[in-house]
This record gives sequence, C-alpha cells and structure tokens, in this order.
Amino acid sequence: MTTITDHGDVEPAGTAGPGESPESADNSKKRASAADPGECRVNSDNSKKRASARRRGRGLEGERERGRLVLAAVLGALAAACSVGLLATSAWLISRSAQRPPVLYLMAPAAVVQAFGLGRAALRYAERLAGHDAALRLLAARRVRAYDALARLAPAGLADYRSGDLIARLVADIDSLADRWLRVRLPFAAAALAAAAAVAVTGVLCPGAGLVLGATLVVSALAAPAIAVALSRREEREFARLRGDLAAATLELLDGAAELAAFGADGRALAAVQEKGARAGKAAIRSGYARGAGAAVSALATGAALCGALLFAVPAVRDGRLAAVLLAVVVLTPLAAHEVVAGLAPAAQEIPRLRAAAARVADVLRRPAPVDEPATPASLPGPPYDLSVSGLTAGWAPGQAVLRDLWFDAPAGSRTAIVGPSGSGKTTLALVLLRFLDYSAGLVTLGGRDLRTLHSDAVRSVIGVCEQDAHVFDSTLEANLRLAKPSATLDELRSALSRARLLDWVDSLPLGLATTVGEHGARLSGGQRQRLALARVLLADFPVVILDEPAEHLDEATAAALTRDLLSAVAGRTVLLITHRPVARGMVDHVLRLDGGRLAAAHPARNLFPREGKARPAPVLLTR
Ligand SMILES: Nc1ncnc2c1ncn2[C@@H]1O[C@H](COP(=O)(O)OP(=O)(O)OP(=O)(O)O)[C@@H](O)[C@H]1O
Ligand SMILES: [Mg+2]
Repeated sequence: MTTITDHGDVEPAGTAGPGESPESADNSKKRASAADPGECRVNSDNSKKRASARRRGRGLEGERERGRLVLAAVLGALAAACSVGLLATSAWLISRSAQRPPVLYLMAPAAVVQAFGLGRAALRYAERLAGHDAALRLLAARRVRAYDALARLAPAGLADYRSGDLIARLVADIDSLADRWLRVRLPFAAAALAAAAAVAVTGVLCPGAGLVLGATLVVSALAAPAIAVALSRREEREFARLRGDLAAATLELLDGAAELAAFGADGRALAAVQEKGARAGKAAIRSGYARGAGAAVSALATGAALCGALLFAVPAVRDGRLAAVLLAVVVLTPLAAHEVVAGLAPAAQEIPRLRAAAARVADVLRRPAPVDEPATPASLPGPPYDLSVSGLTAGWAPGQAVLRDLWFDAPAGSRTAIVGPSGSGKTTLALVLLRFLDYSAGLVTLGGRDLRTLHSDAVRSVIGVCEQDAHVFDSTLEANLRLAKPSATLDELRSALSRARLLDWVDSLPLGLATTVGEHGARLSGGQRQRLALARVLLADFPVVILDEPAEHLDEATAAALTRDLLSAVAGRTVLLITHRPVARGMVDHVLRLDGGRLAAAHPARNLFPREGKARPAPVLLTR
C-alpha cells in the first residue's frame, strides 16, 4: 500500500525505500546463510534495522532540505528587496543630485546604491544555489522512492501502462515536482516578503500611494495568477496527458520501425505521432494565451500603481507633506515592486500542470502491489526445496481466474514439463511460483513452507527463471552475466558459459567476454541470447529453475538441441520446463498439461497423490 502526502509526494507504506529489499546480489551466499533458519532470522532483523535507520536518515535529510528551502526563500526575498531598494535609492540619489548638494553628501547614498546593486546579484546567485540544491536533492530522493515502489509493482503490476507513458511519468512528471519549489513556492514566498517591505516603505512616505501599491500588488500577485490558472487549467492538464501520449507513441514508433516500414505503415504511424505532437503544441499555445492574459492584468496593475502614486504623491509634495526629493522614490518604487511579482502569474499557471504531473506519478505508485508481502516474513527453509501446489487458483484481475484448481508436486531434483496451448496460463503459473503474482485460493509450498509467508525476494533467491524473452542488456557479455553474481570469478563466468554451451563461441570472438551485445541483444542470434540468459541463471545457482519457452523462436531441430542442452546444464536442480512444443520422453520426469488454466493431464500418474481432507482431480495419463 502507498500513501500520498499533502504535497502529492508518495510514501510507500510498509516499505522502507531504496534498497530495503534484502536481496543480496550474490544469491548463493544468501542461500548458504538462509539454510540456517536461525541465521536467516538474524539477517531479516538486520535488514529491518537497516531499513529503519534509512527511514530515520531520510527524515533528517528531509529536515535538512526544508532548512535549505527556507534559506532559499529568505535569500530570494532579500534579493527582491535589493531590486526594490536599488530603484528607490537610485531615484532619491538622482533627485538629490539635481539639487546640487556638496558632493560629500552623496557619497553615502551612492555607496548604498552600489550595495543594493551588488547585493541583488550576489543574493540572487546564492538563492538559486540553495533553492536548486535543495529541490534537486528532494527530487533525487523522490525518484529513488518512485523506482523502489516500481520494483514492487513490476512486472505484473505495470502491464496496464505503455512503456513510453511510464517513462514520461517517471522522468518528466517527477522532474516537474521540483518545479513546484523552484517555480512556484519559492518565487511566491520571496515576492510576498519583498512586496510587503515595498508597501511599508511607500506607505510611510505617502500613505495613499502605499495603499494603492498594496491593492495593485494584491491584484498582480493573486488576481492575475488566478486568471491565468482559470484560463489555462484545462490546457495544462491536457498538455501533461498529451506529453505522456506523445512519448509513448514515439517510443512505439521507434521500437516498431522495422515492422512498420516492412508493412508500408510507417507513413500512417508517423502521421499519427505528428498529429499527437500537433495537439500537444496547440494545448501549449492555448496555454500561452492564458499566460498573456495574466501578464496583461499584471501590466495594468503596474500602470495603476504608478498613476495612483502620482495622484497621491504630487498633492503631498505641494502640501509639503512629502519632500520633493522623495517624489521619485514614491513613484518609482511601485515599478520595482511590481516587477518582482510580475513573474508570479506564469508561475501560478504551472500549478495545474504540476498537480496533474503529481497525480500521474501518484497513480503509478498508488497501485496495489500484485503481491502482498507478509508483515513479518518467515525465515527461508533450507534445502531440499520441494515445490508443492494444491488447489491453486490465480489470475491477473480479481474474479478472473487464469489458473483454476491446479494440483501438482515438483520434488527437489525433479524435472517437470508444463505444456499446453498458448494462453493456457503457463507463464502465469511461473509468475505465481516466483511470487510476482498473488493467488486467490489454494496453497503453494516451497521446502514445506507456505509461499505467502515468505518475502518475495527470499522466494526469488531460491527459484530462478529463464524467461520466454529474457532481457539482455545493451552492454558486454560479461556485464550481462555479472547481473546474476557481481562477485563471480572469471572461472565461474566461463563455467556458466560452458554449461550453457556458449563458451566456444565466446572464445572465438575477438573481444571475448568484452563483446557488446547491442540493444536487446540485437547482435546475438535467438539461440545465443537464450543461452546467455541461461548462463546468467546458472551463475546465480538457483536450486529451482523455471525455463519458460527457452526455445521459443527457434526451428524444431535447434529447439530440441537447445532444450536438451539447457536441461543437462541444470541437471540436479528442480526444473520446471514450460513449453508448448512436444517434449521427448526421457527429457523430463513428469509432464503436466494445462488447458484453459486447468490441469488437463498429468504423466506419470505416480506424481499425483491425494492429500488428506482435500479432493483432487483424478490424474489423467498423458499419451504422447
Ligand atoms: N500482464 C497481464 N495482464 C493481464 N492478463 C494477462 C497478463 N499476462 C497474461 N495475461 C492473461 O493470462 C492468460 C494466460 O497467459 P499466459 O501468458 O500465462 O499464457 P501462456 O500459457 O504462457 O501462453 P504462451 O504459450 O503464449 O506463452 C491469457 O489469457 C492472458 O491474456
Ligand atoms: Mg508464456
């Protein structure tokens, strides 16, 4: 579960943020310690302590950033006050100079003008430094929290999002969160303080002019932004949505460029993206009109302040209530004060867009995690890791079961093939076993312990998967392997490659392990990609391995050879081989056939035995 603070900041509840997941990069080490339940408990206690220390650290961090933001607001107010003071003292100095006093009398005021001029630049610089520093730190912390929450959702919880849109939410929309401070809150705070000082000074010199200045500043600081916001609210929201849409469509266009060109659909696809771009552009232009309306109201208020100052100050000079030398001060100070607040209307206009961005980020992070982690996870049992599934019912949406009432056992060291037509739920079953997806009924046990009582990271330190379309990173062969075990020695890397029957090929490459594989492993053949993924799984040394359609894109003969190689590479471990190809006799110990999410057949029957108190479907002998 995730909660959202009043600022739209998202706080994942029950999680301790970045790195809380106790999974260590070196899974085999972890299992070694996990084999001793007592030790595992200590580990989980330590991870809890680390998580709470991290939470405390983050609290302090937040305090420190808030302090920096207050400092930035004060510096900004002082810089703005210097702007107003510069114009006011300059006006006084020019008027006084016109009276030709002895030049010594002008020395001190000239120094004050200089101080305001220099102070304005220095304070503005310091304000930008403090404000950006704090905002970027907050942003960094928030981005880490966002990725942390995403890690809990992936992969099952993110299926509804298009990847481009998700990227826009996590990059541009999160970036927008910093703008709330830099473009809205800090400028408003600084302008409010400087404007109050200008009204006070003008009011003391000429109360009428002070009143007019106060009133016009309220119009410029509040009414103009309100008008700009009211006129642009819809457009700004629309713009945030269209930006996500445009990013998603562009990414899709780039990803599918080859297919689109091959089918002659590139022109249409490009036109659709251009149309989205044009709509986003139009929304930005309409928003620009609203910005213009706000600026016009601001300009009118500035003019009114000048006229009002003249209206009150000139009679005051005539009556002797105001020294003639101060007339320029009273008339010009409103100009400077209005200049300070003139930037607020465009800033306020950003508010709906920033709110929409915050809502889009929150929408991702508020999603319930596809797996409910236990409040106090049980310790991971030691080997052997027998896998047992009884009455399992699971699906992607509530009430829509994809797997129905599944029963089977996969004792440690056994090899089970799970076959069935496309869409029968084979991958869904793999995701349930890997704790990426929860189940609504039934019981799954790993090493005799209920899967639901274990932390999903702990489950995934025992069960590894070689996916249907395993992701290969655009990096070197070595970096792709080291994902599984960063501390692996060269011998370990070579041994994993050898077992995956890839070593001869790697040795024949001029750069060997340092060869880059291209985006999504584009420079590898389908079989090499799959073997690389398997070598990664072998290196991680999982006792239970799920091979999900390992030979998906290969021809019959290569697929059979690869499958045989894969099975011999993982010999001795518990293997679940998911495939919709025929499985040769002798390759596996048991074959389970899924159809429409139900267990349609099992072979041999000896693998299925009734359990106390629960009726089981009669096993059907699979003839192949
Ligand atoms: N991310 C998802 N969100 C919602 N439904 C999904 C998702 N992934 C799969 N499904 C649905 O679950 C059902 C089973 O899909 P699954 O991927 O498990 O089939 P499969 O047996 O692995 O098929 P294939 O042999 O084609 O890989 C399908 O009806 C599918 O539409
Ligand atoms: Mg599948």
